[in-house]
Amino acid sequence: MPSSTPLSDVLGGRIDGLDLAHPLTADQQTWLADTLHRHGFIVVKNQSLTAAQMVTFARSWGRPSPHVIDTFHHPDDANILVLSNVFKDGEPTGLVDAGTYFHTDYSYLEDVARCTILHAQDVPPAPNGTRFANQAKAYADLPASMKDKIQGLVVKHHYGNRDDLNQRSRTVASVLNPDQAKKVNWVRHPLVRKHPFTGQPALYAVSGSAFGIEGMDDEAALALLRGLSAHATQAAYCHTHNYENGDVIVWDNALLLHSAPLVDLTRPRTLWRVTVLNPLMH
Ligand SMILES: [Fe+2]
Repeated sequence: MPSSTPLSDVLGGRIDGLDLAHPLTADQQTWLADTLHRHGFIVVKNQSLTAAQMVTFARSWGRPSPHVIDTFHHPDDANILVLSNVFKDGEPTGLVDAGTYFHTDYSYLEDVARCTILHAQDVPPAPNGTRFANQAKAYADLPASMKDKIQGLVVKHHYGNRDDLNQRSRTVASVLNPDQAKKVNWVRHPLVRKHPFTGQPALYAVSGSAFGIEGMDDEAALALLRGLSAHATQAAYCHTHNYENGDVIVWDNALLLHSAPLVDLTRPRTLWRVTVLNPLMH
C-alpha cells in the first residue's frame, strides 16, 4: 500500500508508492480518496502521464467535466484544459491566468466539482505555487453566534470574481467569449455545506463566485461574505504548494478554497488540468 506524509498542520499530504500511469486498484482508490478527504490536497511526485493516462486517473474520482473555456482544451483529450504562458507563432498555447484569487472550482455551476487534478509539465523554480485554505477548519473556529447566523443561508453564485470585474485586470476571472458566457447562469449553494463524503461542515465558496445571499440585500450580503472570506483565508488556514515538474496534485473542492499565482510571463509554465464532478450527484 502507498503511504502519506502531512505537508503542514492545516492541510496537504505527500503520497509515496504510487505510479499513476497504471490504473489504480479498488483498494488503492479507496485509500487515496480517504487520504484526500483527510488532507484536502495531495501530491504524487515524479509522474509522467500521457493525456490518456491522466484522464484515466481522473475518471477514478468521477466524471471529468471539460472547462467552459474550450479554446485551450488539450488536442488529445478535451477533458484536459492546458494552463500555459507559452506562445507559439504569436498565439497562446494555454490559459495564462486562471483563478488568481481565492475560489472553488465550478461553484458557479449547478454540478459542483468534487476535485481538480493538475499535472505539472514545465514549471519554473519556486515560488510558483497554488495557495490553499482549509474551509472546514475555518468554519469550526467561527464563534457560535456566527455559526447560528449563517446556518441555512443560501448563496447566489455566478461565474466571475466578485472582487474584480475589470476584464483588463489579471485578477479578473478568465474572460469568456459571448458563446461561453451564454452557458453560465446564476446558481445557488448553501453557505455552510456538508462534505459529500465525510459529512464534515465547511464554508463553501465564500470568495470568488459568491455575489449575494438569498433574502438579504446585496450590500449586507457582500459585507458578510467578505468578512467570512477574510477569516477563512488567514495564514493559519493556508498552505502553498510550489510545483516541480512531474507533480500530480489533487485537491478537494468541497474542503478548500484555492488561489493560483500570478504567473511570471518571462518564465515558461505549463500544467494540465482536469476537473471532476461529484459522482454522488450522477
Ligand atoms: Fe481554480
